[in-house]
Amino acid sequence: MWCLSALVFLLIVQVASANWSSPFVKIGSDGRFQFNGSHFPLLGTNVYWLPALNSVQDIDYTLGNISQTGFNVVRTWAFNDVTSIPENGTWFQLINNGTVTVNEGPNGLQKLDKVIELAEKHKLFLILSLTNNWNPLPADSIVDRPINFTTRDVDAANATTVRRNYLSNQYGGMDVYVRELGQIHEHDQFYINETLINAFENYTTQVVKRYVNSPNLLSWEIANDPRCASSISASNTCVTTTITRWHSRIAKLIKTIDPNHLVSSGASGFFCADCPKLFPRAPRPSPSPSPQSPAGTRRSLPKPLTKKSLLKEKKEILKKMRATELATRTNTGSAIRIRGRWLATPTKRQGDTGVGPAFNGAAGVDSEDIMNIPQVGFGSSQLFPDQNTYGLVRPSGPPSFNESLAIGLDWVNRQIDSFRRNSKPIVLTGFGLVTQENSQSYVPFNAVQPVTSSSQQIAARQQQQFGPTNEQRNDAYQQWLSAALSGGLSGAIQYQWSQSGVSVQLGTPVSTPDNQTPVGNAQSGTGTTPNDGYSIQGTGNAQFQQIIGQDSQTFGVILA
Ligand SMILES: *[C@@H]1O[C@H](CO)[C@@H](O)[C@H](O)[C@H]1NC(C)=O
Ligand SMILES: *[C@@H]1O[C@H](CO)[C@@H](O)[C@H](O)[C@H]1NC(C)=O
Ligand SMILES: *[C@@H]1O[C@H](CO)[C@@H](O)[C@H](O)[C@H]1NC(C)=O
Ligand SMILES: *[C@@H]1O[C@H](CO)[C@@H](O)[C@H](O)[C@H]1NC(C)=O
Ligand SMILES: *[C@@H]1O[C@H](CO)[C@@H](O)[C@H](O)[C@H]1NC(C)=O
Ligand SMILES: *[C@@H]1O[C@H](CO)[C@@H](O)[C@H](O)[C@H]1NC(C)=O
Ligand SMILES: *[C@@H]1O[C@H](CO)[C@@H](O)[C@H](O)[C@H]1NC(C)=O
Ligand SMILES: *[C@@H]1O[C@H](CO)[C@@H](O)[C@H](O)[C@H]1NC(C)=O
Ligand SMILES: *[C@@H]1O[C@H](CO)[C@@H](O)[C@H](O)[C@H]1NC(C)=O
Repeated sequence: MWCLSALVFLLIVQVASANWSSPFVKIGSDGRFQFNGSHFPLLGTNVYWLPALNSVQDIDYTLGNISQTGFNVVRTWAFNDVTSIPENGTWFQLINNGTVTVNEGPNGLQKLDKVIELAEKHKLFLILSLTNNWNPLPADSIVDRPINFTTRDVDAANATTVRRNYLSNQYGGMDVYVRELGQIHEHDQFYINETLINAFENYTTQVVKRYVNSPNLLSWEIANDPRCASSISASNTCVTTTITRWHSRIAKLIKTIDPNHLVSSGASGFFCADCPKLFPRAPRPSPSPSPQSPAGTRRSLPKPLTKKSLLKEKKEILKKMRATELATRTNTGSAIRIRGRWLATPTKRQGDTGVGPAFNGAAGVDSEDIMNIPQVGFGSSQLFPDQNTYGLVRPSGPPSFNESLAIGLDWVNRQIDSFRRNSKPIVLTGFGLVTQENSQSYVPFNAVQPVTSSSQQIAARQQQQFGPTNEQRNDAYQQWLSAALSGGLSGAIQYQWSQSGVSVQLGTPVSTPDNQTPVGNAQSGTGTTPNDGYSIQGTGNAQFQQIIGQDSQTFGVILA
């Protein structure tokens, strides 16, 4: 009798859980990621170069080390566009003078197959990006160029060529479509011209089809940091709805091919107060409890951002600042500041009302409208205080460490408000700070070489004690991570992972053995993966790994 009822009970449990759990990550009704019946936040690292490593062994080591640290998700590039076939190294798609060819060979999509297979072995989820906003060529570059860079390196490491597969922005992306398929040299052609859209849809279809049944694929990310402009500028007709509409089209396409996986944007998290919305938020029945607040307590929902409320907030901040000497450090321009230099002033879109580029739609991004596309599963945001302006009021020089830390916490809190206002989870898909130790290597996303490469810049930087220490960075990461994960964001993904002991080969991200200048033609030995200013190497690495290990336990990151 006991046996029988136990059996019946077991059967019921099994049927119930079979109905309930799916082999894929989904979003629970509480707005958290759910897999195999368990809820979990994402704690991850960015590893854009992963499929471009020389060997399967290298990919295996890298994922093994990441998993061991306590991460549960890896974000990487599922695109790698070239304009001529390279002799060495991974490439996925050839786009050349109107024609497109996808590489399904061992140095093509089969490399991505390996990444997915090995991520599963190491119990890691993947977020796969399908294209990039950033792909500067030296000719587009707005950064001083002391060396005459000619073309992107195809087959040789050359001091005067940009090495392919090194920086995150050297993997092709939207501007390759614009340059090779378009007739109009404007970045936003990618979002509006049928031929270009069609080419991207073709690539997307082919890649997405391949992995419909992969259980450890967490989401298809439509694009990294999509914006109206890149190092190729935008037309003056590009606005937030242009980019939202394009997302909607691609998200629908992906869901048609692959109903199993989540789709996300990869957008920066910029807000657009008072902008027209294509996907107005559905009203929420009741406020959701914050995981932080004691059971039963409910905070009221944050109100939608308006110019009026933001301007009022700004006024109050300025008033407070005026009370201190910091008042002299404010600045009200509208350019994107990169380390104190003013670059790529965005066209005034939706009118610059003084709320700044993170709130006025200047980049053409309205993350809340994008997140509310029905086929988009969760919202995305990034945090790079060295490259973007996030505050309503900006420091006039490069932000001090204290400023960067505070800017980051404020941005995280605004994203938490956005999560609570809208009905979807939000993930910080990339965040980072450039440290003193890394400043010599720092290359902004829209540039082709380190910003410290000119002697004046190096001198200026040494005077200025550029960047925080590794300990300060770790402190900021710790504070941002815990604010994000305890405050209600569904994940935070650090930028970027560094792996040593991987094999050297031309055309791969590791084409120089450690302790050699990145010139010659070395083809053997081992080296360390690229550092674009955000790699965690050297001192501070052990402490960083410890922080991740602790957070992994605190926030219940690792699934049994
Ligand atoms: C799902 O959970 C069950 C038990 O809770 C476990 O036996 C199984 O291995 C899990 N599956 C995956 C894919 O993690
Ligand atoms: C970590 O990477 C090193 C190579 O640097 C490798 O020897 C080691 O086996 C890796 N660890 C794991 C757990 O994969
Ligand atoms: C890499 O390319 C070089 C030419 O640049 C060639 O000599 C070499 O054989 C290639 N190596 C591999 C492993 O394909
Ligand atoms: C590009 O293709 C067009 C027509 O297909 C051809 O006329 C032109 O010569 C090609 N240009 C180059 C640089 O190959
Ligand atoms: C770069 O090119 C310019 C013009 O062609 C030349 O005058 C200059 O010497 C070159 N600089 C270097 C570092 O090669
Ligand atoms: C390196 O670049 C220079 C300048 O473009 C070029 O003349 C030379 O052929 C290149 N060397 C190799 C090995 O590709
Ligand atoms: C879109 O791009 C194609 C290919 O460059 C071009 O022939 C076509 O005229 C463009 N369409 C529009 C509306 O600009
Ligand atoms: C997309 O694929 C279709 C079907 O294979 C093909 O006819 C079309 O030319 C492709 N479009 C581009 C821009 O490559
Ligand atoms: C930064 O903040 C710390 C801790 O609040 C404070 O002790 C320090 O004086 C601040 N530094 C600057 C430059 O404001």
